Amino acid sequence: MKKLKVAIIGFGTVGQGVAEIILNKAEDLEKSDGVAFEVTAVSDMQKGSLLDATGVDLAAALNAVKEGGTLESCGGAMPGRTAIETIAECDADIVLEATYTDIKTGEPATSHVKAAIDRGMHVATTNKGPVVLFARELIDRAAAKKVRFLFEGTVMSGTPTLSFAMRNLAGCEIRGIQGILNGTTNYMLTEMENGKPYDEALAQAQELGYAEAVPDADVEGFDAVGKVVILSNLLLGAKIAPGDVDREGITKITPGQIADAAAAGKRYKLIGSAKRAAGGAIEASVRPVALPLSDPLAGVGGATNALTFDTDLLGPVTVVGAGAGRTETGFSLYADMIEIARGA
Ligand SMILES: NC(=O)c1ccc[n+]([C@@H]2O[C@H](COP(=O)([O-])OP(=O)(O)OC[C@H]3O[C@@H](n4cnc5c(N)ncnc54)[C@H](OP(=O)(O)O)[C@@H]3O)[C@@H](O)[C@H]2O)c1
Repeated sequence: MKKLKVAIIGFGTVGQGVAEIILNKAEDLEKSDGVAFEVTAVSDMQKGSLLDATGVDLAAALNAVKEGGTLESCGGAMPGRTAIETIAECDADIVLEATYTDIKTGEPATSHVKAAIDRGMHVATTNKGPVVLFARELIDRAAAKKVRFLFEGTVMSGTPTLSFAMRNLAGCEIRGIQGILNGTTNYMLTEMENGKPYDEALAQAQELGYAEAVPDADVEGFDAVGKVVILSNLLLGAKIAPGDVDREGITKITPGQIADAAAAGKRYKLIGSAKRAAGGAIEASVRPVALPLSDPLAGVGGATNALTFDTDLLGPVTVVGAGAGRTETGFSLYADMIEIARGA
C-alpha cells in the first residue's frame, strides 16, 4: 500500500472538512486505490499546531476544536509554531493550504505554498489569493521541483471545473466561459425573485452563513472576479489581473428590474464571463445579466454554482454543483490529493 504523508495548514472550516473526509474515507481509498493518507502536521493561527512524523491523532484534533478548544491537549502539540515553521519541519508529501484568502497580496498563503514547493512537497489549496495572483509562477516552480500545485477548490469548491476542463475537455478549444460563480449572490437573487427586497435577502443570506457581516466581496462581485481571473488565465491562456475584469455587483438591482425581466421570460444572474475577442484580447466581466429562461444557467437557483464552457468541438458544456461548504470544499482538497497520489 502506498502511504502519503499530509500537512494541513489552516484548520478552519475547510481544513477540518478535509480532515473528516480523510478519516471517513480511509477504508474506501485503501480498497479503490491502495493508498493511505497519514496526517503528520496541522497548523492553525489560534488553535495551535501538531507535528508527529508517525501520524497525528486526527480524530482527537477534530474533537478538540469542535469543543471550542485548541490543539494543545492533543499528542504532538507544538505550542507557538508558525505555519512556516511547521512547513519547514514537517515530514509530508503533500501540504494542504487552507488559510484566509487575501486577493490583494496573496499572503500568507503564497509564502506557505512556496515554502512547501521548495521543500519538494506537492501542494493543494482552496485559497484564491496565490492562484489569482501567481498561478503560472507557482505551477512552474512546482514543475521545476517535480511536484504538483493543484487548486481545484478555488472555483466552485469540489465541483470539478478546472480539472474537468483541463482533463476531460483536452483537445477542445475553450473559446469562453460564463458562469454563476458566487453562491451568496445567486441565493439573494433567487430570494429577490421570490419577492424579497435586497436588504431582507442579504439579512437572510447572513443568517444562513452564506454572506459575511461585511458582504462586499460577494455583493460587489470581487469574489467572482477572482474566479474569472483564475479561469481566464488557466483555460483561455490569458494573463489578466483582477483590475482587468469589468465589475458590477448586484447592489443596484431593483425589484422592478427583476419583475420586468420575469415578464420578458428572463431571470437576473450575476454572471462571470470571459472570452477571446476578435483581435485576441480577453474580454472579462462580472455583472448582472438577464438571461433567457432557456439558458441552463437561468435554471440554477439558491446557493448553487454553475459554469458553461463554450467549446469548438462540443458546443456549450455546463457543469452545475456546489460552490462552497465544509465538506464540498474539503472534498476539492481530497480530490487533488487523490490526483497527486495517482501520479506519485
Ligand atoms: N468555506 C468554503 O466554503 C470555501 C470555499 C472555497 C474556498 N474557500 C477558501 O478556503 C480557505 C479556507 O476557508 P475556510 O472557510 O476554512 O476559512 P476559515 O474557517 O476562516 O479557516 C481559515 C483558517 O486558517 C487559519 N489561519 C489563518 N492564517 C493562518 C496562518 N498564517 N497560519 C496558520 N493558520 C492560519 C485560521 O486560524 P484562526 O481562525 O485560528 O485564526 C482559520 O482557522 C480560504 O482561503 C477560503 O477563501 C473556502
